[in-house]
Amino acid sequence: MAKELTFSIIKPNAVKKNAIGDIIATFEKSGLKIAAAKLTVLSRKKCEEFYAEHKERPFFGELVDFMTSGPVVLMALAGENAVTKNREIMGATDPKKAAPGTIRAKHGDNVGENAVHGSDSPQSAARELALFFEKAEIVNE
Ligand code: RTP
Ligand code: MG
Repeated sequence: MAKELTFSIIKPNAVKKNAIGDIIATFEKSGLKIAAAKLTVLSRKKCEEFYAEHKERPFFGELVDFMTSGPVVLMALAGENAVTKNREIMGATDPKKAAPGTIRAKHGDNVGENAVHGSDSPQSAARELALFFEKAEIVNE
């Protein structure tokens, strides 16, 4: 499997509880590299664009409220099979169902405030990375 990039967000609940370091350490220990990173607060407009596929879902408003409620860390992660590997390390969407040792089992509070986002396919990764990073900002592949 060739090296690829995926897009990751450390969500506001995890930033708030000082879990940035633990989450990044988990990525690095599993062989993913932090290829780009920024800590920022998402605007509603950008967040709605990012989650456009969920626009019609009942939890959309709540999701955007939460994701814009405080700082997040936006990252490009690089490595072999990075999209799938990141999804495995994150665990299931609902922290109660996430396997022990996964980031969501450890730092997720509920199905909405589940600590991290990770792209679900290489196509999603390309779209999501382009929303938040210039090509020149991805400097550590
Ligand atoms: P993500 O996109 O954040 O990596 O998570 P995912 O693929 O595991 O889950 P997805 O179905 O794409 O949902 C996106 C995010 O919406 C929130 N959510 N809330 N209240 C609810 O029932 C509910 N379901 C999903 C979560 O924050 C989820 O990560
Ligand atoms: Mg998703």
